[in-house]
Amino acid sequence: MKFRLRIWRQAGPDAPGRFEEYVVDGISPNQSFLEMLDQLNEQLIAEGKDPVAFESDCREGICGMCGLTINGMPHGPRLRSTTCELRMRHFEDGSTITVEPFRADAFPVIKDLVVDRSAFDRIMAAGGYISVNTGSAPDANAIPIPKHIAEEAMDAAACIGCGACVAACPNASASLFVAAKIAHLSLLPQGHPERERRVLRMVEAMDKEGFGACSNHGECEAACPKGISIVNIARMRAEYRRAMAAAR
Ligand code: SF4
Ligand code: FES
Repeated sequence: MKFRLRIWRQAGPDAPGRFEEYVVDGISPNQSFLEMLDQLNEQLIAEGKDPVAFESDCREGICGMCGLTINGMPHGPRLRSTTCELRMRHFEDGSTITVEPFRADAFPVIKDLVVDRSAFDRIMAAGGYISVNTGSAPDANAIPIPKHIAEEAMDAAACIGCGACVAACPNASASLFVAAKIAHLSLLPQGHPERERRVLRMVEAMDKEGFGACSNHGECEAACPKGISIVNIARMRAEYRRAMAAAR
């Protein structure tokens, strides 16, 4: 397969960015999108040019590092897929593919396709944890949890912190990410002692980082590679109201 790539190149956070075009040929349909970029980089290095900076780690859809906007869609056109899970057979042979970093004020570009997502880390540090000393691990099923609650908590816990929800949202809101973390922790008994403090701190941290407000577009859910539901955003709002009432 052969592709024309339009790739965002930006030397540093304050440098002006621009699209540059490259052609890659001899691409296997089974190659992943990142392997195709690896091939491009080998080509660029052989030509004495600066390779394209992009992030990846696990390449198995687990770590959330490989955030790219492909043809206008975070993680590309395939539903419920991270960029590393995307194969070149999902693209038309001979087509032009536009590759950009995730766009959001709260995710400043570091270089080319790499953005700084440490805002997510700071939101987690504000309250996305359980600090209660719970002692050694209890026997399985010592705390009975209804199946539907366990399932909902597991679904929310599937969030890999990739940031596609922010990039897809017209307001660059981080609500789906924050809601997933709050739901995951507050649904289970271990998360209850810090429930109110957690939601107040995390929502405050989210606002401070410069993410926009959620206005229910639903683009986040459509772009999320893990299928996190916007039901969690409603749950976060309910948790927030509950915490505000308790603080009075
Ligand atoms: S909610 Fe989905 S899109 Fe957003 S950070 Fe988590 S996994 Fe990524
Ligand atoms: S590289 Fe880890 S999710 Fe894609």
